[in-house]
Amino acid sequence: MCGIMGYVGEREAAAVLIDGLRALEYRGYDSVGIAVLDDAGEMAIHKRAGKLNAFAAEVAAREASGRQGIGHTRWATHGAPSDINAHPHTDCSGKVVVIHNGIVENFVELKQSLRAEGHNFQSDTDTEVIPHLIEHYLGEGASIDAAVRETITRISGAHAILAMTLAEPGVIIAARIGNAGGVVIGYGHGENYLASDLPAILPHTRRVVFLEDGEVARVARGAVTFSRDGRTVDKVPQDVPYDPVSAAKGSYKHFMQKEIAEQPEAILDTLRGRALFSESRVSLEDIGLDADQLRQIRRVLLVGMGTSLHGAMIGRYFMEQIARIPAEAENASEWRYRDSIIGPETLVVSVSQSGETVDTLAAMEEARLKGCPQVTICNVVGGQATRIADGVVYTRCGLEIGVASTKTYVAAITAVYLLACYLGQERGLIDRERMAGLLQPLAQLPFQTGEVMKRNGEYERLAQEFFRCNNFLFLGRGIQYPVAMEGALKLKEVSYIHAEGYAAGEMKHGPIALIDRDMPVIALAPRDQLRDKMLSNIQQVKAREGTVVALATAGDQEIAETADHIVWLPEATPLLNPVLTSLPLQAFAYHVAVRRGCDVDQPRNLAKTVTVE
Ligand code: F6R
Repeated sequence: MCGIMGYVGEREAAAVLIDGLRALEYRGYDSVGIAVLDDAGEMAIHKRAGKLNAFAAEVAAREASGRQGIGHTRWATHGAPSDINAHPHTDCSGKVVVIHNGIVENFVELKQSLRAEGHNFQSDTDTEVIPHLIEHYLGEGASIDAAVRETITRISGAHAILAMTLAEPGVIIAARIGNAGGVVIGYGHGENYLASDLPAILPHTRRVVFLEDGEVARVARGAVTFSRDGRTVDKVPQDVPYDPVSAAKGSYKHFMQKEIAEQPEAILDTLRGRALFSESRVSLEDIGLDADQLRQIRRVLLVGMGTSLHGAMIGRYFMEQIARIPAEAENASEWRYRDSIIGPETLVVSVSQSGETVDTLAAMEEARLKGCPQVTICNVVGGQATRIADGVVYTRCGLEIGVASTKTYVAAITAVYLLACYLGQERGLIDRERMAGLLQPLAQLPFQTGEVMKRNGEYERLAQEFFRCNNFLFLGRGIQYPVAMEGALKLKEVSYIHAEGYAAGEMKHGPIALIDRDMPVIALAPRDQLRDKMLSNIQQVKAREGTVVALATAGDQEIAETADHIVWLPEATPLLNPVLTSLPLQAFAYHVAVRRGCDVDQPRNLAKTVTVE
């Protein structure tokens, strides 16, 4: 799940590549590197472990010159994040350079056979076999296109590859195999761009083509051509929208902080034009399924990973309670291997902000093979998930740069709520009156989230109180259980504190043994049908001298008097409470991480888009 960037044109490539990589650092930031080919046919390679800023200063000082190049920001899979393992990688002669996203699953045997032919390897990476295979085929007289084509038949796994060679200056070859993250080609005037994702390209051009599985592109300054298995493929560039303002940090210290603050707007934008309050109707523009298909649905399966899985788990309640369709939520990385009994009567709803998560895409492929209709909830326009699914409900959040998902998660919850309303409406289950009752709380949600955010100072004070703790327990019941898991995940990933999210009913079956003064318990106890049960859980923790921070609905004095600390929430419909309970947990995780001096936007070992298994 690395970031890849390519440029061929009239400008200095190094600067274009570094700017592009800056926009892709969310895909990995263990090491960075570029290869630039100058007009005299000299190839300069600069690469090093660590983040982009230091690297950029070093490259600027060296004045790497040339109008064609490729660059890479890495999330290590094979080989430590060292200088030598950083991309680009070369063949023996240094004439072929390659950057890559994916895992060469058969690299051990390929390395052995290439070694037997006399190839020498410098790094511990799987990637390095690729330039050597290309070198092998070039040595047999193949063109660079043909050499790449032959190479991709030899490597197993899913890949996105960019390659250049001194033998054919002015050309970058791109190949995509499977779902290891995309390759998008941007069309400029007398210059062209390649990248793993749109943010790197959109500052330059909005005219793009996405490379599909199995396609190879030959990108030169004035022409781009495509092929599959050596046969020409015609592809027409499409225009994509871009809002550069949302890519800037503005006055915020961190993107995570900014993105938490943007949540009221993200919800509003996701609702806009879809929740038709005056008509008591939901309109979903790109649903991709006709009335008959919608009527035939007997079951809904929601899939996702990480935070998106938690959004899917919340969505399950919407599907059952709003649309009255039996629903399950599954971890995509597990479900994909289960050979689940599923068919055209099951609507698969995937949740993925990037639309590129490899396990979610694989689950979607599996569902497609089994004939399931599919809708995806996605934030990135044109993400691969949107191309697999029949329909899409975009969350309209703008770019999310912070590695920890915040606004896209809350917008995804909103989008699944809308989808459940829409399914109920189109299947004739929800009349106007009921729809009015379902939509009205949505209308209040942006305002209520704003109210919750106004209490930021309280979340900061709680962080100040607890940031030295080494373990946390998050408890929730029913629709608050996935929120408890999300609260724990957020804290883990940005502050590196061990935290567990548990169904509160499970507490007595083991976790209660952990309770002591040093492990704060965050209890989600907003007013709903399970609030009394949560109160009992809080009392049980208190009876064991535990410390409780409770999130409760304004005015619930009983909870306030039982817990040690209280976070007040506005009164809301229980189905939408997860949005409100999630916000203080995100803000708490953020402030704890800041106090502990963690890199909030780029936590260690993580990457925003996970394109490897
Ligand atoms: C956590 C986080 C991840 C993602 C997960 C799925 O804050 O961001 O857990 O939710 O990697 O990513 P998407 O939504 O792009 O499929």
